Amino acid sequence: MDNFTFYNPTKLVFGRGQLESLPSLMPEGVKRVLIVYGGGSIKRNGIFANTEKKLTDNGYEVFEFGGVEPNPRISTVNNGADFCKEHNIDFLLAVGGGSVIDCTKTMASAAKYDGDAWDLVTNKVKPEDALPLGTILTLAATGSEMNAGAVITNWETNEKYGWGSPLSFPQFSILDPVHTYSVPRKQTVYGIVDMMSHVFEQYFHQPMNSPVQDRMCEGVLRTVIETAPKLLKNQESYEYRETIMYAGTIALNGMLQMGYRGDWASHNIEHAVSAVYDISHAGGLAILFPNWMKHNLQVNPGRFKQMATRVFGVDPTGKTDDEVGLEGIERLRQFWSALGAPTRLADYDIDDSKLDLMVDRAMKNGPFGNFNPLHDEDVKQILTMSL
Ligand code: NZQ
Ligand code: ZN
Repeated sequence: MDNFTFYNPTKLVFGRGQLESLPSLMPEGVKRVLIVYGGGSIKRNGIFANTEKKLTDNGYEVFEFGGVEPNPRISTVNNGADFCKEHNIDFLLAVGGGSVIDCTKTMASAAKYDGDAWDLVTNKVKPEDALPLGTILTLAATGSEMNAGAVITNWETNEKYGWGSPLSFPQFSILDPVHTYSVPRKQTVYGIVDMMSHVFEQYFHQPMNSPVQDRMCEGVLRTVIETAPKLLKNQESYEYRETIMYAGTIALNGMLQMGYRGDWASHNIEHAVSAVYDISHAGGLAILFPNWMKHNLQVNPGRFKQMATRVFGVDPTGKTDDEVGLEGIERLRQFWSALGAPTRLADYDIDDSKLDLMVDRAMKNGPFGNFNPLHDEDVKQILTMSL
């Protein structure tokens, strides 16, 4: 393993009815709270009203900032930061999925910065201060509720980047599985694909002595694979929602990534695709990740064999490592497709007309991927396999 330091200050408050604890989680001295949300699902399912009431009943002055779009945009972040400055907001409460949380994290630093928030996203400027934030998660997918990362899109330049700062960790996150009952089937599937992808990004790494981490990754993957079909048949099952919600958080709160750096190339390519076409993050991953795997099979066939046998139960008898690995990759593609995830970029009407632009955006910071560094030819091949 590589040497490592693990740090995660987010207080995770998990389970049915945990919204009750919101007032006790608010930091001392906070008075003016901004609830940040997306397109309005929380107004329809009652989560907004319950949250607002909890705050006003306990003496907080509540403001709202809605309209955060999926794949949140830098223009929205800047508007939100201006709102915070104008209204002297002293705490941000993100209520929603990864997009709302990422927008809120970036707003928190932008509210204490005088320039364009894009400077923060592009790491031109390091934030020196930020408003404190908490989250109420309504969609199991990104893990943003318990990490310091945020992914923001600049639609004018077709760029989408992840960034992060220790100041971006939520102080607390409230996870009530009941809050995810209203997530539509398609979005539930995307969440499942995203969390599985996060585990795969970490599973394919270079330092090879990671038996504890491997088994943890495989355990999360197997659990999600067992639970997902049951959840889709019974979307208001507390038990299944709870399992998937916990899996989503564990998949990207740093627990699985101690002792090595994950690969993260598939995410980088997907961000380039959704910067150009504004497609769902996990829809893109469902298409790209199996092709990344095929492209990299030869880097370490034994690793792919381990995934195939331990995660998908592929029988290796009489087969080469390559064959077993390929069977595992095919099983993954079939699993996602059976859930209803897309398999080709053509499913989003994406053809090769902007292939070079996507490659250019993915390569912005040079070769990437820690399991196997990708160059522009590799990215082009993976995208071409995905058309
Ligand atoms: O906007 P509203 O009306 O709330 O509707 C949302 C949105 O349309 C809806 N939704 C959320 N909770 C719901 C619900 N609908 C009904 N009932 C509920 N309880 O779901 C739709 C998608 O929401 P979004 O937040 O965009 O989804 P997700 O959580 O998958 O976030 C995706 C974003 O996160 C980034 C992605 O790139 C993308 O921009 N990521 C962030 C990461 C991080 N910060 O660690 C890591 C990820 O790999 C990812 O890149
Ligand atoms: Zn993701």
